[in-house]
Amino acid sequence: MRTIVRPPRVPRPRRFLLCEPRYFDVQYAINPWMHDGAPVDTALAQRQWAALVQAYRDHGHTVETVPPVAGLPDMVFAANSALVLGGRVFGARFHAPQRRPESVEYEKWFRAAGFEVHTPEAVCEGEGDLVPVGGYVLAGTGFRTTREAHREVQEFLGVPTIGLQLVDPYFYHLDTALFPLDDTNIAYYPEAFSPGSREVLRRLFPDAVLATRDDALAFGLNSVSDGCHVFVAPQAEGIVEQLARHGYVPVPVDLSEFHKAGGGIKCCTQEVRS
Ligand code: ARG
Repeated sequence: MRTIVRPPRVPRPRRFLLCEPRYFDVQYAINPWMHDGAPVDTALAQRQWAALVQAYRDHGHTVETVPPVAGLPDMVFAANSALVLGGRVFGARFHAPQRRPESVEYEKWFRAAGFEVHTPEAVCEGEGDLVPVGGYVLAGTGFRTTREAHREVQEFLGVPTIGLQLVDPYFYHLDTALFPLDDTNIAYYPEAFSPGSREVLRRLFPDAVLATRDDALAFGLNSVSDGCHVFVAPQAEGIVEQLARHGYVPVPVDLSEFHKAGGGIKCCTQEVRS
């Protein structure tokens, strides 16, 4: 007789916004991952991205897309365009001048989809640095999004916003060092944070899954979880194994071409939370 073991984790269907990598490339360097040495294979990037979209749809998620724009090679990183919570859209103001025009394109999409967009006054890179979990917004700073933007997002959403200091340039966005596993728990790489911020994370999430530097460098923390399935870089072997041990179902999706620009699965994925 066989016993049926039910997965203990419960997935929740999500609405995702992505941008096809038709014009994706590395044409400037605004983080340590971006350099001339590794040219992008655009055709491969397109196939990897299509596999991500397919994986989301296969697991019951809705994927919508914003039209890509020539001359905006980082526009594929949809997560940076906004933080959407309770149907309220807190837009982006990019740090790098090369990326600033992206906000206009995403704003058009949000407006056409029936959302109002609040444009921040301070530099703010959307879900790259703003991660809602456990009734808070975890908010990274140090490289891109400013403390002033954290204040603005708290005022706009009325959600307690917890500033976290990033200290390692390889993990320049919060979503390269931390991701929510479900509504109450996270996985993160402690050394990406200042000692005080590490302590804050320890207090808030005592049961968090802790990742190694190797897993973080393999973009293993740039993952997307639906509460059960975790869309994760297969290169991050340690975190893949830990997730399985904690009752999550890892769904490996290889976005190696996007790593050349300093991005992975989460960077390519904006969640539209109604
Ligand atoms: N090349 C892009 C940049 O440096 C990558 C953005 C990655 N996005 C993210 N959500 N971490 O801005």
